[in-house]
Amino acid sequence: MSRLVVVSNRVAPVEEGKASAGGLSVAVEEAFAKTEGLWFGWNGKIENNGPIRVTVEEGKRFARATMPLSRKDYNDFYVGYANSTLWPLLHYRLNVMQYSRAHAEGYRRVNELYANHLAPLLRPDDLIWVHDYHLFVLGRELKRMGLENRMGFFLHTPFPPPDMLRACSEHEEIVRALFDYDVIGFQTENDARNLLEYVRRLSGGTVRGNRATAFGKTARVQAFPISIRPDEMAEAAEKAMRSNRARQLVRSLGGKQLIIGVERLDYSKGLDKRFASYERLLTNYPENRGSVTLMQIAPPSRGDVQSYREIRQVLEGMAGHINGQFAEFDWVPIRYLNKSYRRDVLAGFFRIAQVGYVTPLRDGMNLVAKEYVASQDPVDPGVLVLSEFAGAAAELDGAVIVNPFDEEGMMEGLQTALRMPLGDRIERYQSMMAVLRKNDLQNWRRRFLEALRGA
Ligand code: UDP
Ligand code: G6P
Repeated sequence: MSRLVVVSNRVAPVEEGKASAGGLSVAVEEAFAKTEGLWFGWNGKIENNGPIRVTVEEGKRFARATMPLSRKDYNDFYVGYANSTLWPLLHYRLNVMQYSRAHAEGYRRVNELYANHLAPLLRPDDLIWVHDYHLFVLGRELKRMGLENRMGFFLHTPFPPPDMLRACSEHEEIVRALFDYDVIGFQTENDARNLLEYVRRLSGGTVRGNRATAFGKTARVQAFPISIRPDEMAEAAEKAMRSNRARQLVRSLGGKQLIIGVERLDYSKGLDKRFASYERLLTNYPENRGSVTLMQIAPPSRGDVQSYREIRQVLEGMAGHINGQFAEFDWVPIRYLNKSYRRDVLAGFFRIAQVGYVTPLRDGMNLVAKEYVASQDPVDPGVLVLSEFAGAAAELDGAVIVNPFDEEGMMEGLQTALRMPLGDRIERYQSMMAVLRKNDLQNWRRRFLEALRGA
């Protein structure tokens, strides 16, 4: 069988206590479950001395080949174009988007650099699977070098409608480059439709079923919703309940209800509105004072990007304000933690929490929502309160769905979740678990690779 080569900018597991590596790196490990291969990308380091060298570390199932970035490439490509232009654009946040031609040039430069360093490691029959918005034009660069391997691309973020995409001067270049891949995968049907709409309206291309032709090239365009391994998560949660940490958390709550939120500290996750809606809950439903706690785990992320520093400051101010206003000598309303935890530890925290509060303003999928559900005790499950703008909302029909821009609606959603009778909770949990078991992480990998092999 041909080897699988995964390329993503981030190649790293979550290190406890540090910044979070996010959903991509969690999911990509799974890509190698059944195939041998190579994972290529950035090692997370900045190095300015001498020529860049790729380090290959052999692992049990796959090898990791990583390289550093120079300070200039880190600034122009990672901080600049990827995370100050593309990330906000893809999350429908034109007000936060920043743009400079130098950053766009840096983006092309680093994609070319990755291609140059990856090419010598490739074999002619390797299947190449490129991940996420940092590498839209990597396929183009590999093709320019004469490579003829099958190549697929999967976008972990949302993909915006054509009129929004046009806010970025390189919109045509990006879509044109996407068509250098044989398969273009998205998280949801909505994202795939947005690309097809662009093809029809702005590139004069054609669409037939899930095949689209544009710029003289044809690709398969399809949704492959990413997921988790629900039964492993459930097992991890059960096991975690016997750990000291879970016991300490339960003890510290002293019978109070727990609402939990877990995400990278990112403005797309809607944390400010979340805190504000919780403040409204304490104001308008005073019976929750002293009996409910919100624990928000938010490991820092992309701290060199201005908008991330700003949201961090805003949240610190809000948490301080809410705690100052409501705290009692024996109760603090918000526990706000800027550190990461391993997933097996989080599984226990999720199981202890009566409510999983996941309210991104826009999110490709949101694995935390799925992990929260899978971690619940089947005979006494908690309730997921979920933003309608998370990709996961298209699948998790048993969640209490809220509009993350509507603080009062969110407050009502929380109150409903905190008061929900056991029978309703079990029914919702079972329906969501059935969905998670049907489309699990293995299924995501299998469907994408089948599409790629068949392309
Ligand atoms: N995560 C973790 N430790 C943390 C915070 C997050 O392991 O302290 C994991 C989390 O369990 C999930 C992933 O990071 O698997 C986050 O993925 P998600 O799709 O929710 O968001 P993203 O960070 O990709 O935007
Ligand atoms: C999201 C993105 C990933 C990214 C991760 C962490 O999951 O989709 O591509 O790797 O966040 O962000 P970082 O900038 O630290 O790689």
